Amino acid sequence: MNTQKPTILTAPRISSNLHIGNYFGAILPMIDMAKHRSDDYQINMFIADLHGLTTPIDYSNVQPLVWSYLRTFVAAGFPLDLPNVYLYRQSHIPAHSELTWILDCFTGMGEMARMTQFKDKSAKLSEDRISVGLFNYPVLMAADILLYNTRYVPVGDDQTQHIEFTRDIGERINNRFGEIFTIPETAKAQHEFFGKDQGLRIRDLQDPTKKMSKSDETGKGVIFLNDTPEQARKKIMTAATDSRGVIHYDYATQPGVSNLIEMHALLSGQTVAAVAAEWEGKSSYGELKTAVAASVSDFLTDFQHNLTTIDDALLKQKLASGEAAMRTLANATLLRVQTAVGLR
Ligand code: TYM
Repeated sequence: MNTQKPTILTAPRISSNLHIGNYFGAILPMIDMAKHRSDDYQINMFIADLHGLTTPIDYSNVQPLVWSYLRTFVAAGFPLDLPNVYLYRQSHIPAHSELTWILDCFTGMGEMARMTQFKDKSAKLSEDRISVGLFNYPVLMAADILLYNTRYVPVGDDQTQHIEFTRDIGERINNRFGEIFTIPETAKAQHEFFGKDQGLRIRDLQDPTKKMSKSDETGKGVIFLNDTPEQARKKIMTAATDSRGVIHYDYATQPGVSNLIEMHALLSGQTVAAVAAEWEGKSSYGELKTAVAASVSDFLTDFQHNLTTIDDALLKQKLASGEAAMRTLANATLLRVQTAVGLR
């Protein structure tokens, strides 16, 4: 077995531009891990570029997206100078694809057909556009995780089923061939490890009963990190609320208002409790929106300024060293599997 430190690993899949839900729900918590846990854990942050090809995408936009995601991590504070923290692109480590093929051959069609994300995503596509890649998306995700001795995978609730599948397929291989893979913790144990920030959900501004999502076609309910401060301000001012007329932080009865309060807290660095207390019982939704619009606009102005200060040469160095190191680690795991199934 491996003697390397256990790994904490996560990735966004490239699709459209990142939004503030990805930023506060996934990128900042991972940066926090990188800054505070890298003595005890190996930290892997990568870009799921292969996963980006599973649904229709403008291929000429793939490289710009990859680089904008990488720069976003750095602008958000991802440390480029810590030795135990790795940054890489999935497609630059061929072992991800190779392990996927082998795991595919141990995966049932029925298992994949049950995945709710596949059902949701394929329902939005015409039949000829539903790719086999979308169907076995969770197998590639399992390979991403199992290659690196991974114990924790900070992701939102929408990914829980994929984590459970990763554990199943990993155990299936281990039961058959001996200790090949480290099995990641259950979703429940992960929630305990990561605490309150795990599972944070920023909602869509136009339909606050659903999460803010990169695949929203109109973009009206989503604050993208590359929106101009003015565009973002307008989206907040036209956000859907309710007709109760009194502000009360309660997602069950007032999801729109509650989402605005939560966003205001995240964007201005205050606690939700403090912001909720400040606005509780007030009647002017317009004033609340004006305050949130100002905090969004300030946040984007600062963030977009940070983007202009990034040292691309340093980022490329970090990527090159991360990808070289991860190829070695991933190949070692892949070789154990290839040997077990008789390919070596
Ligand atoms: P993806 O790209 O859909 O989402 C990236 C991360 O952002 C979180 N997230 C949100 N958090 C808060 N509020 C929101 N509105 C919001 N929307 C999205 C997601 O939960 C996720 O944590 N399959 C993965 C990518 C992946 C991966 C992996 C992750 C590929 N291989 C291996 C972990 C480990 C995905 O599509 O994430």
